[in-house]
Amino acid sequence: MKILIAGLVKNEQLIRLKQEGSKRGHEVEGSYTSELVIEAGNESFEPTLRGRPMAEYDLIYNWAVGKRRWEWYAAELFLKEKYATIIVNSKVVDPSYKLFLTPAMNYLKQYRQKLPFPKSVLIFSSKSIDSIIDKFKFPLIVKTSAGRQGRGVFKADSKEELVEKVSELQGTKQSVVIREFILNDGDIRVFCVGYRAIGAMRRIPKEGEFRSNISLGGKGEKFDLERYPKVKRLAEKVAKVTATEIAGVDIIIHKETGKSYILEVNPGPQFAGLEKYTKTNAALEIIKYFESLLV
Ligand SMILES: Nc1ncnc2c1ncn2[C@@H]1O[C@H](COP(=O)(O)OP(=O)(O)OP(=O)(O)O)[C@@H](O)[C@H]1O
Ligand SMILES: [Mg+2]
Repeated sequence: MKILIAGLVKNEQLIRLKQEGSKRGHEVEGSYTSELVIEAGNESFEPTLRGRPMAEYDLIYNWAVGKRRWEWYAAELFLKEKYATIIVNSKVVDPSYKLFLTPAMNYLKQYRQKLPFPKSVLIFSSKSIDSIIDKFKFPLIVKTSAGRQGRGVFKADSKEELVEKVSELQGTKQSVVIREFILNDGDIRVFCVGYRAIGAMRRIPKEGEFRSNISLGGKGEKFDLERYPKVKRLAEKVAKVTATEIAGVDIIIHKETGKSYILEVNPGPQFAGLEKYTKTNAALEIIKYFESLLV
């Protein structure tokens, strides 16, 4: 198979996918999202990459297509229709799914399926704070959809801090989510491939930090899913409900009540940390999953 990983270059995850892919006879390539070119006219429509037609690829996995996603999805929709190119996660080229690609829609799905997640409020303006503030206790979490790897997540200890933070984030024109703070001993990253949990790690924040992201100095350790079947089931279920074929599901367990909550589902999850801390061969699982899509 010829496989393209969109939005992934010079990265250890790409190196691992290339390694495991080539062992099984596949060619794995990565690209910047900016390399996409779409040539369109009445006679033809042709997405190309570095001067070559993208029809050459059997499978395209959207790792991190970011702000350019809509152009990528249009190109992929065409490739799927014309050449039966396999697109992962397939929901991005499913017209009936477009609505689900936002946090608000994920909340609606989680609510409908009764999947536990921290009480959250999505707002666009600091003016909305007064109407919701009584429903929360401090501290609470403020998150914008703009930052990845923990960079858009903040803690507010008072109303003043909350107003200041939300006003600041409002400038990005993104929605802001306010959510209840869950007392925890680190969060759990469950890695699901094809809606099956293949491994998990607990991430413990570094001293003085509340965010457990590895990129912010968090440390990982193996988390035994067999001992926590409920966490495993919850991760697999939310991956399925949000139609995320390759999913890094973040789950947080309340330190006192033991209750699990879904924090988020990442469609382009890092797995180098998981491979290191848990000896799971995530790259191989992904390649095997790609193979299963071809038949
Ligand atoms: N409600 C909460 N209670 C306690 N800690 C939280 C809560 N929400 C987030 N955190 C901490 O902050 C970290 C980052 O939050 P989150 O996973 O929502 O954002 P992110 O990692 O930046 O998102 P993305 O994966 O989209 O880049 C979590 O891993 C967790 O350690
Ligand atoms: Mg996260």
